[in-house]
Amino acid sequence: MNILAFETSCDETCAAVVRDGRELLSNLVSSQAEYHAAYGGVVPEIAARAHIERIYPLCADALRAAGLTMDDIHAVAVTAAPGLIGALLVGVNFAKGLALARSLPLIPVHHLRGHIAAAYLEHPALAPPFTAAVVSGGHTQIIAADTHTRFRVLGATRDDAAGEALDKVARMLGYPYPGAAAMSADAEGGDCSAYAFPQCKGGDNPLDMSFSGLKTAAANILRRAAQTGEHIDRRDFAASFEEAVVRALASRARRAANGPIVLCGGVAANRRLRAALDGAIIPSVYLCGDNAAMIAAQAFYEYKAGNLAGFDLNASASLPVGESCLSLCKTARVI
Ligand code: KG4
Ligand code: ZN
Repeated sequence: MNILAFETSCDETCAAVVRDGRELLSNLVSSQAEYHAAYGGVVPEIAARAHIERIYPLCADALRAAGLTMDDIHAVAVTAAPGLIGALLVGVNFAKGLALARSLPLIPVHHLRGHIAAAYLEHPALAPPFTAAVVSGGHTQIIAADTHTRFRVLGATRDDAAGEALDKVARMLGYPYPGAAAMSADAEGGDCSAYAFPQCKGGDNPLDMSFSGLKTAAANILRRAAQTGEHIDRRDFAASFEEAVVRALASRARRAANGPIVLCGGVAANRRLRAALDGAIIPSVYLCGDNAAMIAAQAFYEYKAGNLAGFDLNASASLPVGESCLSLCKTARVI
């Protein structure tokens, strides 16, 4: 079964073709980072407009790269939640148009379920139950994957996502947008014990996290240094901050798990985090950031579970991972 999938939840326009949820035939990602860099963050209106311009040519390129035409496609999948609403709607409506025109099943996919499914692409033996640490720019959650389509949140950040906190501190240190990846490369040679950060606390649930306190601690150290003229070693500071974030994430993922751990999401590209969760199942770096192959991978299981959307499918900025994307349409299973 060949699934053509789209992902437009944030600032990357993505299209991919995956066979039987495992075999990656094409996987194209068109980054808009250059548009948003000047603003220091993603501008939702700009993101949506760039998706509009790019999604059609990217779809054609994804088919070409797979060596297929629309005649070879058996279903269309799309990220329907969560994300920037205007950005999501571009993908959802494009996918609807294709599915309607070609009389194909339409499979709505939750973005975080997609990040988790990225792990199936390279680990054919992997199957639920397992524990997933989904660490991205918009979300940070420890999730129990009970089946391919049933999920429970065990713990989550109560404020900033880990990626968001890393990007903000990277910006304070002057690394180029989006920040965390550049900071991480530089931090590799740094001394991660040079600066002390408070232990990240999450409240009543020991699996919850908070990264905004860590970020404020970083801002305070930098502000004080600017006032007193104290020299800050950028590499050591970056390494120490990363270490604090990684410690908080890795300890919770280990505490939550009583089986395999899957580490995924954009921040799973981070070397320090990958090393801290040694033994975990971690997708290759190119499958950690947003992409459509992971959406196709999850779509395969949603399809098997009968989770097909009607053409009244809507998008949602904030659907919990445990809730099916079918809640976003009233006329499910219309082909
Ligand atoms: O999953 P993703 O591509 O998009 C969202 O769903 O948010 O994650 C993007 C996040 C950004 O915060 C980005 O700076 C971060 O992942 N990221 C990294 C690295 N590469 C990307 N964070 C730490 N180290 C990296 N190497
Ligand atoms: Zn993501």
